[in-house]
Amino acid sequence: MSMTGDVWEQARSRIGAADLHGKMMSEDEAASMIRPNMIIACSGFTPCGYPKAIPKALVRRSQEAGEHISSIALWTGASVGDELDGALSRAGLLSRRMPYQSNPYTREAINSGAIDYVDVHLSHVAQQIRYGFWGKPDIAIIEAAAITDEGYLIPTTSVGNSPTFAKVADTVLVELNVKQPIDLYGLHDIYVPEDPPFRKTIPIYHPKDRIGTPWIKVEKKKIAAIVPTEIPDESKRLINNNEIIKKVSENLLNFIDSEIEAGRIPRALLPIQAGVGSIANAVLEGFSYSTYAGLLFYTEVIQDSMVRLIEQGKAEFASGCSLTLSQDLSKSCLRDLSYWKKHLVLRPQEITNNPEVIRRLGVISINAALEVDIYGNVNSTHVFGSNIMNGIGGSGDFARNAYLSIFVMPSTAKEGNVSTIVPMVSHVDHTEHDVHVIVTDVGVADLRGLSPRERAAMIINRCAHPSYRSLLHDYYCRALHTSGGHTPHLLKEVFSWYLRLTGRDVQ
Ligand code: COA
Repeated sequence: MSMTGDVWEQARSRIGAADLHGKMMSEDEAASMIRPNMIIACSGFTPCGYPKAIPKALVRRSQEAGEHISSIALWTGASVGDELDGALSRAGLLSRRMPYQSNPYTREAINSGAIDYVDVHLSHVAQQIRYGFWGKPDIAIIEAAAITDEGYLIPTTSVGNSPTFAKVADTVLVELNVKQPIDLYGLHDIYVPEDPPFRKTIPIYHPKDRIGTPWIKVEKKKIAAIVPTEIPDESKRLINNNEIIKKVSENLLNFIDSEIEAGRIPRALLPIQAGVGSIANAVLEGFSYSTYAGLLFYTEVIQDSMVRLIEQGKAEFASGCSLTLSQDLSKSCLRDLSYWKKHLVLRPQEITNNPEVIRRLGVISINAALEVDIYGNVNSTHVFGSNIMNGIGGSGDFARNAYLSIFVMPSTAKEGNVSTIVPMVSHVDHTEHDVHVIVTDVGVADLRGLSPRERAAMIINRCAHPSYRSLLHDYYCRALHTSGGHTPHLLKEVFSWYLRLTGRDVQ
């Protein structure tokens, strides 16, 4: 057993249901319940609140004891830390994965064909599991900060799909993490909608509204193991605040100002959703230099920039499904939860990303793209068409249902060697119908109400980097005069575009 007696005692004191004390065991004992070909459904979201000790024990079992444990299917909320995705991928234990990942080892295993990865809209996952689209998970593993007298779980730094995983799995293993403050109680708002035809309105009319419980309901008899741990979340330091990103942010703020001037957005704005990754986080940091006040977030991942805006008094409240902060900010935030509970709430991802609520609140969505084509189609997942980067995550949930759907990115990638504006995207995640505005360091293309031909001129002139503009114009003009049509293209040339710019074979 790797944990100290002190950790064991602390964990015991956090289990309200005395009849569950007998379920306390080591991670190795808990991991012994996992067998080949099982579906394992874990808590965790970008990468917070995921189990760490049991997956590591599983890898030990396979590597040190030489036991053959392959073909595990792993379901989570979204990306998880290296102790789960990375460790299982490196050890070759995973054969299937859904719905989102961002681990370099998992990515490599997916792109090599070793893992079958299904990239799913994050709002869809829980209900599709309840409907039985995916089969039944054999075991749910959930990280908790405490267990109530009834045996219900107090989640840690994310909620993800845990309420549904706990509901549908027959066996639940709990990692009771004593490093996570017990004060997390009250931060969460757990609400699982009924399934059709019994579903009712999800009654969120303001990002602050609470509609559920502070705990995840689980039948006590399903809890087969409680593993005391003290392993912290993998913390992410998002650094991308270079001059180019500052310019993207400036262009975004100028655009929002012009929308306020035009009377299309109120002065206090509408609730904002900002995407994952360093670009979205850095772009949002630009809001700290704005004159906006009382900002609200109805988002998926609560990142550093949002918490800082609340500290500065520029933002009032953030609703999300994970608290993904860099190490220092996470420490200070978790130390003062009585303050933060007035400004933050964590919900299941089927609620944070729910189309009904996003439409009702009139969310302004700001997501990052890898590339955008001259007609406004967006690729946010695949590099040069074939290789997955992370996944669509919640970007589709928000882009399709937002009041205003904005995509941001630098105008070039790979030190200027790749234009992020291309003739035709090498993979489509967000079609032209779900993309209202493109913002790069060069400028803003407001595509609302424009035909494809009008969009092409707007995107090339306003968003493409000057060094690629004439190439894109040349493509568009030849497409217009050779093929013509509603959305002119030269399909043969689309492929050579990638070859010409990168010098690499993109078959
Ligand atoms: N062609 C090739 N590579 C490109 C590229 C392009 N057009 N644009 C970016 N890249 C590369 C970058 O060079 C970088 O590579 P590296 O890791 O080797 O340095 C990588 O893609 C990531 O780009 P980065 O600039 O670090 O951006 P990011 O961390 O902000 O991530 C996305 C950008 C699009 C990958 C990320 O936002 C994402 O996964 N989005 C999809 C999910 C989503 O939007 N979720 C939000 C829902 S709420």
